Amino acid sequence: MSKISGSCLIMLSSAFLMSACTTPPVGLSRYDADARSLLNRMTLDEKIGQMVQADSSGMKDITDIQTYHLGSVLSGGGSDPADGNSLAAWAAYYEACQEQAARTRLGIPILYGIDAVHGHNNVLGAVIFPHNIGLGCTRNPALVEEIGRIAAMEMRATGMHWTFAPCVTVPQDEHWGRTYEGYSEDPELVAELGAAAVRGLQGNGLDDPKSVLACAKHFAGDGGTQPDSGDFVNVGDRYNTGGARSGWDQGDTQCDEATFRRIHLAPYPTAITAGALSIMPSYSSWNGLKCSASKYLLTDVLKGEMGFEGFLVSDWEAIRQIDPDFKTAIGISINAGMDMAMEPTKYRTFYKYLKELVEEGTVPMSRIDDAVFRILRVKLAMGLMEEGYVAQGDPALQNEFGSEAHRAVARQAVRESLVLLKNEGHVFPASRTAKRIHVAGQAADNIGYQCGGWTIAWQGKSGDVTAGGTTVLGAVRKTVAPGTEVTYSKDGSGAEGADLCIVVVGEKPYAEGAGDDPDLQLADEELATVRQAAASGVPVITVLFSGRPIMVNGILDQSDAFIAAWFPGTEGLGVADVLFGDYQPTGKLSFTWPRSLDQIPINKGDGKTNPLFPYGFGLGK
Ligand code: BGC
Ligand code: BGC
Repeated sequence: MSKISGSCLIMLSSAFLMSACTTPPVGLSRYDADARSLLNRMTLDEKIGQMVQADSSGMKDITDIQTYHLGSVLSGGGSDPADGNSLAAWAAYYEACQEQAARTRLGIPILYGIDAVHGHNNVLGAVIFPHNIGLGCTRNPALVEEIGRIAAMEMRATGMHWTFAPCVTVPQDEHWGRTYEGYSEDPELVAELGAAAVRGLQGNGLDDPKSVLACAKHFAGDGGTQPDSGDFVNVGDRYNTGGARSGWDQGDTQCDEATFRRIHLAPYPTAITAGALSIMPSYSSWNGLKCSASKYLLTDVLKGEMGFEGFLVSDWEAIRQIDPDFKTAIGISINAGMDMAMEPTKYRTFYKYLKELVEEGTVPMSRIDDAVFRILRVKLAMGLMEEGYVAQGDPALQNEFGSEAHRAVARQAVRESLVLLKNEGHVFPASRTAKRIHVAGQAADNIGYQCGGWTIAWQGKSGDVTAGGTTVLGAVRKTVAPGTEVTYSKDGSGAEGADLCIVVVGEKPYAEGAGDDPDLQLADEELATVRQAAASGVPVITVLFSGRPIMVNGILDQSDAFIAAWFPGTEGLGVADVLFGDYQPTGKLSFTWPRSLDQIPINKGDGKTNPLFPYGFGLGK
């Protein structure tokens, strides 16, 4: 059991009471003695190994887990097992890694981390839930918690027990390619749903074989970045890199401390209170200083003030962005409070440099001991070190992997995430007994487009990327009355004479910086599809797949009804449930929808007026 007793942390919200928290508020101290005695038996090499995380595809040789005493392995987006992407292949690879760890002198199991950010989304056949932006529109923490439970169980089917989720970013600017990873532009909603996700993932406690360790990310200010010049800056204690990057992602958040705390730090105390014992510092900077280099943010604020007792894992190769010299960068980050380094390919170099830094006295031994102590305590709390711990995928959970019961929850989430933005002439809901319904748009029959980024591949993919699930076209076909004809065209042609046309268009999948977009326009072919359908004179209901509010001039006015569906995941039946009126639309925007690019940033409570749709808007119940 690792549940944090939150009483002290709750007081943190009234800042002046903070000094009252002199004793740690958290329940990890029961593992102190065991962690300490293990630490005392470790060599410097073994300690440094615990602080290193290699990527499964980046690992030169799986026996490196032994050679470098690795404390952790991750699989980044697209880092599939060499022999395929099935549940069995993942479980087998996980087991092989743990076997290596078991052969080390101390036999400390590794932590296996993966981005299960909308279900166990790297694995074929997993249930894929809507991305967080859609969940924000549900306003339903109980549902978000249940989704966390299911994601955890699908993970444990493969053995894996640590997800880099929830993302508790508070995106302020839709140009950012990671907007959809955030529940909302409103810190309060993010805090509420982020905590719910942590509770769901960690379930009855970290040592529950159906639970996984959550990781709140990216600490902090990842959602507040402005695009910068891309020039390398290193002035005194301020570090920043641009390099090839020239967008919003991984940029600099410039604001005063009160604003930074109110918007970007707000979700962290609640995530910690909910029990999050790992946190990922952000690639981004705050006022020019990389978060991964900030002792103030990592040690003073997070570990000190907020009482965070877990450990920090760096983002993918983030440490080297701190300084052009890798060794210097490592020293800065570890001394700032980083506990574990995600070094997918350069883990051997990291290991060597950190050891040198300790021997040279640049990184004090006390810092190494603190980092390893923190990691070991979490491993102990997870029960990894207990007699009889089985480092394998759970066969019972394998039977439930991608099950109908899991899909039913995802279908509910889809339903509740849809936001009806327009309904002129009451063409919505559609009648399932109409004579003919025409469905149009390439996105209508493409489950890869429906799922978005972080699905099977890092950037997402087009087409039948996974097994199971239903496209919107498939869902319409499955749920219309027996006598209703359903026709389909990719380009919007052929609607003439139908009773209704359902058009599905959207953004193509993307992840991280690849999704940074200065224009926020749909592709021309998508616009043409809507125009073509509308030209038929048949009433048009447009369903939009997008990771954020985008510019909808030219499609909103062509549509009689308009639904924002975000990236809903595998369960297209949830879209049909609402389209045909079995369920009323209840989703409410978790972002303000800008009318034009020059309004951005426009966010709840900033005093800006006249958006296209205000925060919280949604027709229906
Ligand atoms: C992302 C993180 C992710 C990590 C591991 C990074 O590029 O920023 O969100 O957890 O990779 O895949
Ligand atoms: C992502 C990883 C991905 C890698 C590909 C990283 O930024 O977070 O998950 O596999 O880039 O190069």
